[in-house]
Amino acid sequence: LAKAEVDISSIPEGKNATIKWRGKPVFIRHRTQSEIQEADSVAMSELRDPQNDADRFETREWLVMLGVCTHLGCVPIGEAGDFGGWYCPCHGSHYDISGRARKGPAPTNLEVPVYSLDDGKLTIG
Ligand code: FES
Repeated sequence: LAKAEVDISSIPEGKNATIKWRGKPVFIRHRTQSEIQEADSVAMSELRDPQNDADRFETREWLVMLGVCTHLGCVPIGEAGDFGGWYCPCHGSHYDISGRARKGPAPTNLEVPVYSLDDGKLTIG
């Protein structure tokens, strides 16, 4: 199966990038320390699909996930919504800075693909 390799070293802290992998958008965000703290501050009881941020990503600074809404597959918008993360305009799903579903019809968190990080290079797949 096809892997994608991306140089992410030029993505500044606090910025998003989107790449295509197997025909799907993959969202990448270079998160700030305060965003990581915000993700950690959420109680599991507030989540419909409880997942620790630390368990979702290989390193805390780099968020990597499929840009496919878990409701019906639209592409969410970054830096939008009520939880500081992503917002899906199709039916109003809100995701937090960890990509976790927080409000609206999305039943589960945005999916994290298999990936690895090595010295500024991201390999997906
Ligand atoms: Fe995203 Fe329905 S497809 S809210």
